[in-house]
Amino acid sequence: MNDMDTLTIEKKGHVVILTLNRPDKLNAINQTMITELHDALLTIQRDPLARCLVITGTGKKAFAAGADIAEMEHMDFFGAKAFAEKGCAVMHSIETLPIPVICAVNGFALGGGMELALACDVRIAAENAIFGLPEASLGVIPGFGGTVRLSRIAGHAVAAEMIFSAGTIDADCAKRYGIVNRTVPLHELMEYTCGLAGKISGNAPLAVRAAKRSMRLSQDIKMENMLFAQLFLTKDRQAGMNNFLHKKKTEHFLGE
Ligand code: COA
Repeated sequence: MNDMDTLTIEKKGHVVILTLNRPDKLNAINQTMITELHDALLTIQRDPLARCLVITGTGKKAFAAGADIAEMEHMDFFGAKAFAEKGCAVMHSIETLPIPVICAVNGFALGGGMELALACDVRIAAENAIFGLPEASLGVIPGFGGTVRLSRIAGHAVAAEMIFSAGTIDADCAKRYGIVNRTVPLHELMEYTCGLAGKISGNAPLAVRAAKRSMRLSQDIKMENMLFAQLFLTKDRQAGMNNFLHKKKTEHFLGE
C-alpha cells in the first residue's frame, strides 16, 4: 500500500505497522487521517497474509495529542456529529479488525489519541507516555467511544476520575490502572512491540482470529463453543495438535 498524507504503512512478514504521521501537530487526528485510517484498515482487513497490526506514532514525543482542535474549532452541530460518527466507525473497525491490534504508545496519548489506543487489543507504553482525556477542559467529551471503552477497560471510578478531571496520568499509573499491558523504555518500544506481534503471528492465524472474535463480539459462551468446534475442521489445528503429541514445534501455520 502507498503511503498516505497522514499515515505510513509498512509490512514486516505477517506484521503490519501503521504509523500516525503528522509530527508537526503531534500526530493530531484530523479528518484526512480519519479517512485514511478507514481506507488503511479496509486494506489490512482484506490482506490474507496480515496476522497482526501494530499502531504507533511518528517521533518521540507523541502517539497522538487528540483530535485536531484547529479543525474542531469551526465545526457546528452537524459537522461535529459527522466527525464523531466517522471517528467512532474507525475505532470500531480497529476493535473488530479480525487480527489482533497492538498499540505502541510513544508519548502523549490524549483525547482521540487515547481513544484510539483504547480500541486496540493490547497497549504497550513507552516510559514517557502520558495518557489523558482532556475534552472536558475544552468543553466537550470524548467522542470516539472513549467514555465507554475506558469504563470497560479500567472501571467506572478510573474513567470518572480521568474524564471528569481532564487530568493526565503517566505510564506507570496507566499500568497500575490496567490501561496498559506493559511499560518499556522508549528506545525498546518498537522492538518489544514487534516481538510480541511476531509471536502472535507465529500462532495459528485462524485460531487467533477466532479467539479475538470470541473475546470481542460475544459474551456468549455458545459462540465461543461454536468457534472452538469450527477450528477442529482446520489443517492447522490437526498439525498443531499432532506435532505437539510428537514433541515437535509447528514451524509454519498455513492459515487453512
Ligand atoms: N489539535 C491540533 N493541533 C495540536 C493538537 C491537537 N489536539 N495538539 C498539539 N497540536 C499542535 C499545536 O497547536 C502546535 O502547533 P503549532 O506548532 O503550529 O503551534 C504543535 O502541535 C505542537 O504542540 P505544542 O502545544 O506547541 O506542544 P507542547 O509540548 O507545548 O504541548 C501538549 C504538548 C500535548 C501538552 C499540547 O500540545 C496539548 O495540550 N495538546 C492538546 C491536547 C488535547 O486537548 N487533546 C484533546 C483534543 S479533543
